[in-house]
Amino acid sequence: MLENLTQQPPDKIIMLSGMFRADPRSEKIDLGVGVYKDANGNTPIMRAVKKAEQLLWDTETTKSYTALIGDGGFHKVMADLVLGDAVEAERLSFAHAPGGTGAIRQILELIKVASPDATVWMSDPTWPNHPAMVKGVGIPMRTYAYFDADTGAVNFDGMMADLAEAKAGDVVILHGCCHNPTGANLNETQWQQVADLLLEKEAIPFVDIAYQGFGDGLQKDAFGVRLLAEKCPEVLISASCSKNFGIYRERCGLVIAISRDSENAGLTQGMLSSLNRLNFSFPPDHGARLVTMVLSDPELRADWEAELEEVRTSMLGLRKKLADALRDETGSDRYGFIAEHRGMFSRLGLTEEQVTKLREDHGIYMIGDSRFNVAGLSEASIPKIAKAVVAVGG
Ligand code: LMR
Repeated sequence: MLENLTQQPPDKIIMLSGMFRADPRSEKIDLGVGVYKDANGNTPIMRAVKKAEQLLWDTETTKSYTALIGDGGFHKVMADLVLGDAVEAERLSFAHAPGGTGAIRQILELIKVASPDATVWMSDPTWPNHPAMVKGVGIPMRTYAYFDADTGAVNFDGMMADLAEAKAGDVVILHGCCHNPTGANLNETQWQQVADLLLEKEAIPFVDIAYQGFGDGLQKDAFGVRLLAEKCPEVLISASCSKNFGIYRERCGLVIAISRDSENAGLTQGMLSSLNRLNFSFPPDHGARLVTMVLSDPELRADWEAELEEVRTSMLGLRKKLADALRDETGSDRYGFIAEHRGMFSRLGLTEEQVTKLREDHGIYMIGDSRFNVAGLSEASIPKIAKAVVAVGG
């Protein structure tokens, strides 16, 4: 049986991490996978998370199962974090899933059951696991224009023209903030226009929000998803706690589904519960419990927000320093967009060959489309990176 299997295409991001680990050069620089690193290159456990972990160790009395959809306290604090008071609680249903990726998968399965003829739309480009998962679940997909490589900005006219072709019941994946891989994001007016178009087309927004707090701050980063929640009868949301709580390996993500009314929310809740049972039964609890403790305790929450803000502003500082260094090296402003972008990633706009040369000749690792992880930069490495970019012809 197993000889019938075919070789699967590797995920570009995971493959690059393996190549980086295998590289013996001590001066190598990892700008690949989206994991936050501090100035010393470490991925710290956030202070409030560590405190919550100590508290949990002292107070947890059982490791028995939670509910199939996870703990209600976790749903509540996350709904508040992501949606604020944009929508009535009775229209919400939830499923705690293993990571943001797990939440996306559960949503795709929900779409497949609820609307087998729907097409799922995604930005061109998008996180490579989006199309891979949509294909894996067997849902038809289309892309919409998103990025203008010449200006480094959103190609908004192209996006609207493509989405005008969406049919009623189609699902449109939108990055809630900090677009991955481009770092170019919709402004508030553009979010309004997208919301109006989706309403007119009766298409359903599916917001993947994996970096809340990494862009313009916790509240501003939620502008788009809250607007859609206010305006649209149905919205699907996958939220990740991997990055903003730094609990990557705990696999903590959440499906939030907004239904038309409480009756439909009940139906959706039943299906989400069943999908969890079919796929993995109970979700991993540890990360969700930490998130719940941090968000419910005023002191822990204040400390978490302060540290998240440090993370966010340090990335903004690194963006500016790289843009400045590239301006000095190239004598032009063509990399100025790096300082304008938000979130963990931007694309330099280099060719695959140039990216390969950066890796082979300079030990600088970024994804083949020239996406780099801003948090992988440091004051020390930025001058070297800027010189190397110019050396490969960028
Ligand atoms: C990334 O885009 O690098 C992150 O979302 C990590 C991942 O799983 O790909």
